[in-house]
Amino acid sequence: MKIVKLDPINPDPNKMIEASELIKNGEVVAFPTETVYGLGADATNDKACLKIFEAKGRPPDNPLIVHINSFEMFYKYTDFHDERVLKVMEEIWPGPITLVVKKRNIGNVPTAGLDTVAIRMPGHPIALKLIELSGKPIAAPSANLSGKPSPTKASHVIADLGDKIPMIIDGGDTFFGLESTVIQPLQDKIYILRPGPFSPEELEEKFKMKVILSGGTDNIPRAPGMKYRHYAPNKKLILADGLDEILKLYNENPNSLVLCSRETAEKFEGNKFILGSRENLYEVARNLFHSFRFLDESNYSVGIIEKFQEIGIGYAIMNRIKKAASKN
Ligand code: TXA
Ligand code: MG
Repeated sequence: MKIVKLDPINPDPNKMIEASELIKNGEVVAFPTETVYGLGADATNDKACLKIFEAKGRPPDNPLIVHINSFEMFYKYTDFHDERVLKVMEEIWPGPITLVVKKRNIGNVPTAGLDTVAIRMPGHPIALKLIELSGKPIAAPSANLSGKPSPTKASHVIADLGDKIPMIIDGGDTFFGLESTVIQPLQDKIYILRPGPFSPEELEEKFKMKVILSGGTDNIPRAPGMKYRHYAPNKKLILADGLDEILKLYNENPNSLVLCSRETAEKFEGNKFILGSRENLYEVARNLFHSFRFLDESNYSVGIIEKFQEIGIGYAIMNRIKKAASKN
């Protein structure tokens, strides 16, 4: 696999020509977005999109996110005309939010046969430039092997897919470290299909519509992908609420590693991985998936992870942590 290193703020477009040629020729390329690394292919080419499913080992009934770089592209590939929602999207995009709407001119492979498409304009100079140079919408799920945590560093992609794909664009660590918020606007309501960096509070404030958290209950739209076990390390991960519980679990579980806030780390003497400050949950989000991979590669047998407050991006952080810890 070829590794092309680029400045994430000011990428040299000349160094992205080869990547865009691969996309145009129906190949796959891994590239950074502001959320996590994606594994991209021409969204209008079903055969190319199949290669994404093959490389990741992704179940074919789990649709991909289609990345665009303009509203012109949005209108070409969607059939969606809710002015109230569109006005807000013009403010939010490019950014870490994905919209599920009726599709147009998109095949059945990237959308897993649904009549809707999950579409987003990523807020990352490399991703936007790659779409521009390819002249195509780019279908891209997270660039991890199916079942592994999403990649937030080029090294994660190389570890998972290094022998399966022709190229990765290395733009350093991704900014948010959690996958985009996936929403579906339906009948004057915004359904959150997958929590992400854009929080429920921010959605309510921006859209001024009722925001409904999809918990998998009947009658509430869901993202097909949310039924799969995700984000989970192979090692056992236990959720702990507060220092006392951490200490208790640490003493009960020999050879364990505590994944915790800096504030907790200051009071805890044992083996630890600092996720970030409780006062800056964006820092915790950025380090979360790396901590899962670190635990798996370490010699520790068990992970104990601190519970964080479910405010702002903390809601998405806890969504991922609960999924990762759910198998215990
Ligand atoms: O931040 C992100 O969203 C990253 C970067 C690369 O953009 N992408 C990402 O893609 O996380 P992926 O494939 O790992 O997650 C896409 C999620 C899945 O849960 C999938 O089921 C859901 O979006 N999804 C895709 N199309 C959908 C549709 N038409 N209706 C409902 N859910 C859909
Ligand atoms: Mg994924």
